[in-house]
Amino acid sequence: MVETSDQWITERTGIKNRFLVGPGETCSDLGARAALDACQKAGVDPADIELIVFATITPDMMLPATACLVQHKIGATRAWGFDLSIACSGFLYALQVGVQFILSGCHKNVLVIGMDVMSSIVDYQDRQTCIIFGDGGGAVLLQPSESASDGCFVDYLHEVDGSGGDFLCMPGGGSAHPASKETVEGRQHFVKQDGPVVFRFATKRMPDLCVRLLERNGLTGKDVDVFVPHQANLRIIKSAVERLGMPMEKVIVNIEEYGNTTAGTLPLALSTALSSGRLKKGDLVLFAAMGAGLSAGAALMRWGY
Ligand SMILES: CC(C)(COP(=O)(O)OP(=O)(O)OC[C@H]1O[C@@H](n2cnc3c(N)ncnc32)[C@H](O)[C@@H]1OP(=O)(O)O)[C@@H](O)C(=O)NCCC(=O)NCCS
Repeated sequence: MVETSDQWITERTGIKNRFLVGPGETCSDLGARAALDACQKAGVDPADIELIVFATITPDMMLPATACLVQHKIGATRAWGFDLSIACSGFLYALQVGVQFILSGCHKNVLVIGMDVMSSIVDYQDRQTCIIFGDGGGAVLLQPSESASDGCFVDYLHEVDGSGGDFLCMPGGGSAHPASKETVEGRQHFVKQDGPVVFRFATKRMPDLCVRLLERNGLTGKDVDVFVPHQANLRIIKSAVERLGMPMEKVIVNIEEYGNTTAGTLPLALSTALSSGRLKKGDLVLFAAMGAGLSAGAALMRWGY
């Protein structure tokens, strides 16, 4: 579809595969499947879920919120919920929202979903973006723990820099440029990206936040057992890992398999970590994300099961 090569994509991004949804399959379909899977693994009846936070930039529709569609599909009859839109940082920010509702004692079962169907907004004539993005994501269920040894949230550090908004955006379809013949003809309903600018932001801000977060908790990269970074580009991950001074063995990387699934990468990486037996009870886990906004974040968690 575009002038590129497998060799270029592999060398410059580390990506080999991307999964795309089937005909008629939507973001809420994938979200509902992941949510049911999470509930089943945790032994929780969907009717006992109290809150659904759905991180996505590819909702089924602008309204209603995808969280409402998922609430209905999974039978979470007592839950409220909403969508959270901050692109690739979405899951990490949604996780923090969910954690706050647990910490405050408001809720005991919070479902956090990170999912994107990027194929619905990617321009397959634009080689800067179409080689990177794929569809997918996952869900986690948050519950209060009795003690820190049963798992706990340690700390987080999130930052946005709105001055970089134009470097990664989808101009059409919002109140600035409502859908029109011109926005469609101008291909404004697709993601636009200045790759090198985003790359520089990612390689600086993401590890910066990780280092600051670790330092204020009296830790260094050496104390981290498992690092779960946003999967945007293998070169971005490697540069962050070098800065943190940790071996690649501690890092969950599955970008080769899935590409960049935006809000989906962190729960997908968690799934990879769990299914490969790399995540164990008591592990100190560092999460990191960055994306449109421009936005970035880091979070520390003591894994609980
Ligand atoms: C998009 C990205 C992969 C491009 O890689 P890059 O090494 O920065 O490449 P550049 O844009 O500097 O382009 C280098 C050359 O490769 C070419 N090129 C760009 N995309 C290409 C592709 N898919 N296939 C082949 N050549 C390509 C460019 O035209 C340029 O050619 P030139 O030197 O003749 O002008 C990279 O910038 C990136 O990953 N950025 C971050 C993106 C990101 O993380 N986005 C999501 C945020 S969550």
